[in-house]
Amino acid sequence: MVNKILGLFMLFSLLFTLTGQSQNPVWEEVAPGVWKSVVGSPDSFDLLKAAGVKPDIDALSKLGSADFPLPAGEIAAEIADGKTFLRFPLVKEEQLYGFGLNFKTVQQRGKILQLHVDHYGGTDNGRTHAPVPFYISDKGYGVFVNSARYITVYAGTAVRKDSPNAPEPRDRNTDKKWTSRPYSDAVDMVVPAGGTEIYLFAGPTPLDAVRRFNLFNGGGCLPPRWGLGFTQRVKSLYTADQVLEEARAFEERGYPLDFIGLEPGWQSKSYPCTFEWDRTRFPDPAGFVKAMKAKGIRLNLWTNPYVSPASPIFEKIGPLTGSHTVWGGVVADLTLPQARQIMLDQMEKDQVDLGVSGYKIDECDGYDRWLWPDVAGFPSGNSAEQLRQTYGLLLQKMTTDLYRQKNNRTFGLIRASNGGGSSFPYVIYNDYYSHEDFITALINSSFAGVLWTPEVRGSKTGEEWVRRMQTVCFSPMAMINAWSDGTKPWSFPEVEKEVKEIALLRMQLIPYFYSEFAKYHFEGTPPFRAMNLETGFGGKAVSELKNANLSENPYAEAITKEIKDQYMAGEYLLVAPLFKGETEREVILPAGKWYDFYTGKLAGEGEVIRVTAGLDRIPVFVKDGGIIPMMPPQLHAPAAGQKFDLEIRYYGTKPSVYQLYDDDGETFDYEKGAYSWRTITVAPDKKGRPAGKVSPAEKGKPDNIGKISWKMMTE
Ligand code: GAL
Repeated sequence: MVNKILGLFMLFSLLFTLTGQSQNPVWEEVAPGVWKSVVGSPDSFDLLKAAGVKPDIDALSKLGSADFPLPAGEIAAEIADGKTFLRFPLVKEEQLYGFGLNFKTVQQRGKILQLHVDHYGGTDNGRTHAPVPFYISDKGYGVFVNSARYITVYAGTAVRKDSPNAPEPRDRNTDKKWTSRPYSDAVDMVVPAGGTEIYLFAGPTPLDAVRRFNLFNGGGCLPPRWGLGFTQRVKSLYTADQVLEEARAFEERGYPLDFIGLEPGWQSKSYPCTFEWDRTRFPDPAGFVKAMKAKGIRLNLWTNPYVSPASPIFEKIGPLTGSHTVWGGVVADLTLPQARQIMLDQMEKDQVDLGVSGYKIDECDGYDRWLWPDVAGFPSGNSAEQLRQTYGLLLQKMTTDLYRQKNNRTFGLIRASNGGGSSFPYVIYNDYYSHEDFITALINSSFAGVLWTPEVRGSKTGEEWVRRMQTVCFSPMAMINAWSDGTKPWSFPEVEKEVKEIALLRMQLIPYFYSEFAKYHFEGTPPFRAMNLETGFGGKAVSELKNANLSENPYAEAITKEIKDQYMAGEYLLVAPLFKGETEREVILPAGKWYDFYTGKLAGEGEVIRVTAGLDRIPVFVKDGGIIPMMPPQLHAPAAGQKFDLEIRYYGTKPSVYQLYDDDGETFDYEKGAYSWRTITVAPDKKGRPAGKVSPAEKGKPDNIGKISWKMMTE
């Protein structure tokens, strides 16, 4: 039936030429539940090409087919004035999420945005580190525009006079129902190009649409196990000896540490960069990397992409760079394979082959003055705008490929990304330092196919320090970024104990988080995600909280309270951070029973609860039937082949099943099938008490699990 309708639309559409006339796009199902349409004449270069996306068709097939999620006759496209105009329908009470890494708001209906790669400047206006042209509807579908252009979005603000839902004009003088924002029934977009590809992702749930999007992009990244341990970035001008000393101090004091990040001072010159070691601070880079490795600690190197005249690659890369410089450095046209190769050769021989585990690639996002301007030209003929929208993707892709060639996983940091980047093992960070907004960004990252870390740098008080440490330990990368002031986890003696405990809890949770990342990779489910993607969230608890404050998103048709300060961490955990000055807060529990993570006691059921927590705890709740596999509080993540014991915690009363993922944790052999899932089951025994079972390790597959013990948390 659906195909018949689509066929009719196709026929209908072919009768017209697209130019200057609104059309219904023609859709082709390119994977189960994923439809593509080519509107006009798209640019030859786009987001998916920059990211080199290979859809995971097998995983998409497992999600199954679905009906076309929108009334196709209400989707419209038009080419005029050299631009593409797109329109997607909205119904009343429909809410929208996504449009990239926003920091202040989760609900996007009613917004006007221009999606533009930039350093976040304090307003959700579309300028952000990952302005992904993808949105999700709470009705359970997603829309993606595959264009590397600055796309303007009217997310339910524009009102057409021929709309069947056009609001009636009202008299402001006399009519109390007059509103400055009359009802709009569409998302409109302007793509400044003569055409574009558009994609539709079916649900049925919003989370399914997100999953399909991530799987279409190749599946989420699977970090190495060590990437989920703790990381400290040292002061910019630290020497090799100081870095070794830092590692020693962590060990002596009993703080976990898996990798150290070196900041600009490891390079002989930076801003622009030479991409080579500074021999005064690091006289023997190979020996230094080896000595660190011997302590079980890897190294991550900061760089920005601008090439200094003092760099050994400057001459060679010169002809392959753009017309403008950034901080006096040349800007490689990374859409050219030769330019990428020159940069990669330098990284490979000077750093990666020595054992450096990854990079933090800075300053590829903007603030306009810290980037090439839009008037710049590039030898490939791609525009400055297209390069800006994709530079972060290109850098992630080329470095990920280099590590794949070495069969060695990496996990790094990046300041810009975009649609198509789900599979890259990179986490976004920035210089903006609002703790609350960092958590909203963490929530929004789950709608954008990117990862985000609420990094910890400094704090005015020990209280703020521990609150920030608690959230970063429940995020994709547990990191202190002390590049400027050299803070250490123990810098606030009054909360030293609490900080150590949370860092060690992070280590204990590695088996759980690692399995959750495997689900990101194999099933597309974001490991840290918005409550709005959780089944059973909403309903009574949220509607009771109808937003009285309409100033941030005053869109009357769809307003419910925005939930931007609590989130899901994996399948079972709900994290409700406390911020500076707070000792208690409200937590909205989705449907079903929820239990306190620390005590196993019932916390509530589909309701709003008030919780208090001392500095030693971040409020965390576990869904009924929650199975949380934990390991001992080690100082380093288990290395390849190293066995670790499991303590499996079980919460609540519901019979339950959890899939525990295992592989070598370091190589790409999992891509060739060298991984296993162990099924953990809890069901009542004869006496009605919960009894747990773990399926045996598969023969010939990686098996890192040592002794298994159980902790039934709920009495
Ligand atoms: C900033 C970056 C910081 C730090 C610093 C070093 O651009 O966001 O995290 O790396 O550069 O100069």
